Amino acid sequence: ASRDRIGGNVEVAWAAVREEAMACTRCPLYRCGTQTVFGEGPLGAPLMFVGEQPGDQEDLAGRPFVGPAGQLFDRALGDAGIDRSSAYVTNAVKHFKFERRGKRRIHSKPDAGEIEACRWWIDQERSLLRPQVTVALGATAARSLFGRTVTISALRGQPHQARDGGETWVTVHPSFLLRVRDDKEAEYARFVEDLARIGERVK
Ligand code: URA
Repeated sequence: ASRDRIGGNVEVAWAAVREEAMACTRCPLYRCGTQTVFGEGPLGAPLMFVGEQPGDQEDLAGRPFVGPAGQLFDRALGDAGIDRSSAYVTNAVKHFKFERRGKRRIHSKPDAGEIEACRWWIDQERSLLRPQVTVALGATAARSLFGRTVTISALRGQPHQARDGGETWVTVHPSFLLRVRDDKEAEYARFVEDLARIGERVK
C-alpha cells in the first residue's frame, strides 16, 4: 500500500534531483570522486538505509553499497529476512573521499562540513520518499540525520527521531564488521539482530 501513495510526480521529481546532484559542486569532494553516487531503490520503500559515502567500487559503478561492505550488508539483510530490493539505499555523502597511495585509493572520512553540505541532497531524498523507517549505518549517517555527533552504542536497539521527525534507527556500519577483530561473529549477529528488529517495524 505504501507504494501506492507514490504518484508519477515523485518519480519525476526524484529523477530531476538526481540529475542535479550529478553536477553538484556544493563541497570540494566533487573534484575527488569519479561521479556522484546517488541513492537507489523503490521510491515507495518503507525503509531507507543511509551509509557514509561511496567507496572505491561504488565510485566506479555509480551505485551505493556494491563493494565489500555492500556484500556484507546484503548478506546481513538476507539473514535478517529483509529483501534489499524492497529498500531505498543511499549515503550521507555522495562523493568518494580518498587519499591516493600508489595505485590504491584509500577511503578517508568525510568531515562535518562535507556532511553538512551533502545534507542538501539527503534532505531532498527524504522529503520525496518519506520512508516510514530510516536506518543510519554508522556515525556519519547518524550525524547527518540527527544533526549532531552521536554514539552508536548508546543509540542502537531502539527507535529515535531524526531532525526531520522520521522514525530513525542507528546501527553499526557494515565496514566496521569487516575491520573488527574481537568477537567478529558476535558483532555480525548483533548487526543482523538490529536489522531484524528494524524489519519488524515495516512488516
Ligand atoms: N560504504 C558506504 O557507506 N556506502 C557505500 O555506498 C559503500 C560503502
